[in-house]
Amino acid sequence: MTDTNPTSGSASSPSLENLLHETRSFPPSEEFAAQANAKADLYEKASADRLGFWAEQARELVTWNKPFTETLDWSGAPVARWFADGTLNAAYNAVDRHVEAGHGDRVAIHFEGEPGDTRTVTYADLQQEVSRAANALTALGVRTGDRVVIYLPMLVESVVAMLACARIGAPHSVVFGGFSADALRSRIADAEATLVVTADGGYRRGAPSALKPAVDEALAPKEGAPATSVQKVLVVRRTEQDVDWVEGRDVWWHEALEAADPVHEPVAVEAEHPLFILYTSGTTGKPKGILHTTGGYITQAAYTHKNVFDLKPETDVYWCTADVGWVTGHSYVVYGPLVNGATQVLYEGTPDTPHRGRWWELIEKYKVSILYTAPTAIRTCMKWGDDIPGGFDLSSLRVLGSVGEPINPEAWMWYRRVIGGDKTPIVDTWWQTETGAIMISPLPGVTATKPGSAQVAIPGIAATVVDDEAKPVPDGGGGYLVLSEPWPSMLRGIWGDLERYKDTYWSRFDGLYFAGDGAKKDEDGDIWLLGRVDDVMNVSGHRLSTTEIESALVSNEIVAEAAVVGAADETTGQAVVAFVILRGSHANRASTAEGAAEVQKELRDHVGKEIGPIAKPKKILVVPELPKTRSGKIMRRLLRDVAEDRAVGDATTLADSSVMDLITAGLAAPTAASED
Ligand code: WT7
Repeated sequence: MTDTNPTSGSASSPSLENLLHETRSFPPSEEFAAQANAKADLYEKASADRLGFWAEQARELVTWNKPFTETLDWSGAPVARWFADGTLNAAYNAVDRHVEAGHGDRVAIHFEGEPGDTRTVTYADLQQEVSRAANALTALGVRTGDRVVIYLPMLVESVVAMLACARIGAPHSVVFGGFSADALRSRIADAEATLVVTADGGYRRGAPSALKPAVDEALAPKEGAPATSVQKVLVVRRTEQDVDWVEGRDVWWHEALEAADPVHEPVAVEAEHPLFILYTSGTTGKPKGILHTTGGYITQAAYTHKNVFDLKPETDVYWCTADVGWVTGHSYVVYGPLVNGATQVLYEGTPDTPHRGRWWELIEKYKVSILYTAPTAIRTCMKWGDDIPGGFDLSSLRVLGSVGEPINPEAWMWYRRVIGGDKTPIVDTWWQTETGAIMISPLPGVTATKPGSAQVAIPGIAATVVDDEAKPVPDGGGGYLVLSEPWPSMLRGIWGDLERYKDTYWSRFDGLYFAGDGAKKDEDGDIWLLGRVDDVMNVSGHRLSTTEIESALVSNEIVAEAAVVGAADETTGQAVVAFVILRGSHANRASTAEGAAEVQKELRDHVGKEIGPIAKPKKILVVPELPKTRSGKIMRRLLRDVAEDRAVGDATTLADSSVMDLITAGLAAPTAASED
């Protein structure tokens, strides 16, 4: 399964020695520590009585319709049941209870569209809109337990649609708007969704882009594919683009909401009732539907949001730049902040439209105090130069967060110095779609922060680094990151495939959750994440599967074989590089630079259509052979050497050791051009 050995440091990761050499640590200021939510005693309380600690968080942060009496039932391991005899509603917790507590006038969302249109949504507004949407969904036939697919840009309606589903107990499955019609179709089919919420389109890079045509295509009859179970499509109007309309199926969102009652009684569900399914890439071609349930998930989302970002709901303005199509958007745009009653910014567009200072302009405008974003965005802004953020007043910022991939110490230091005015703590938060919420992170005000390291498991979480034999490594050692105790927001399985759940996460090490990441512990016992050890890539913080892109490539008639690797990339962390063998006569097409460029474009577009623009390879190299072991396994390690312009490593286990010479000789020719 893996050809990367974390104990020797993976190719795409910086060496620990270099990192440690540059390490400085930043203790919290006394002023910050005095006012911080998190205190050092959280660690003590959690380790003295872990389950008692979680029960206390669940009672403090969440309002229950029926209080739970049992904290954890692990008898069905590895499927956990948390707070199982309690009942609650996630949308009530995110919205209504704040209105009932007298905070109806508090701003929940400062929406900023890419063209500059704005909308201010208070908690009272949100309550009305979510209630209308819940009534509209019910009127369209959605019942508790039915699945709803949400395929939207970053709009207030995206948040409303998710909460409306939660309000009636209909699990949502949000599909990122950058996925193609084919990817959408397979997710709709796997979840057996009965309704899709979409929009005519959204604004991106200064122009309206369309979304509904992908839904129309995903729902159209297709040879060899069974008809979907979708009955209705709710369409948000955002851009005034013309849309095709299917009578009887398509319904305008604004018309359905206008017709609906603004009062709705939230459905109290059991703590283990499914809240959402979110698809993510694994090591095989088929995306996994990660299942999260209600009580444990919102407990940990709220607890981490409060303590890791030191949220003060009365005074902070929080901004997480993630799209709701990813888990970060679920836990840290929707559930965490809203359950905590936070005020947040929601921005529709890209950071460089209409100019490269757009983010910093928004921070100045809304006086954002907590910013949560990804290393790839930080590195991009770093490349654009200090002058751009330097032109704005960023003094409102007091906590900065990072998520999605390892953050290199240079980017960390730049983030702190240029964006944080050399004073803000930075929290590097490690977690996954599967973990549901943050697992490893410093706590601002408590932990001295260290550039490049996610550092320590948060109170209540048990994370360790083990070797091949599942033995914990000593400080200074490297191995695999594992989680050794169940946690409230853990996934409850893969939708419709319990075996795959057990196999993927619980079969590598007995009784330990295998995260798929390599990690090291430094001399202080702090954890450094080193990237994936499986066939999963991380491009701009987005998870992509090598196998999935390989399948997409070979589904094109001109491709005989394909191998995909993630090559180190300065900005995006990793970049997708594909090696392809063309079929028969097509091989000749790539013999001229022009022909090769044509082939590359054709294949990039093909991957875009099969999966989505985010999966398009940055480089496609046409090769005569692929390096394989005697058992037929592609040696991606050697291809990564080629993709990263390194001398090719040990090739002695290849079935035919001359293959690498053939490949590198061929690539010296001008046909190996790349396309950005
Ligand atoms: C994978 C999970 C967590 C939300 C966004 C991505 C990598 C995530 C960090 C971090 C080093 C990180 C891991 C992980 N990752 N955060 N702070 N430092 N690596 O969610 O798509 O489920 O991907 O992202 O490799 O396994 P995801």
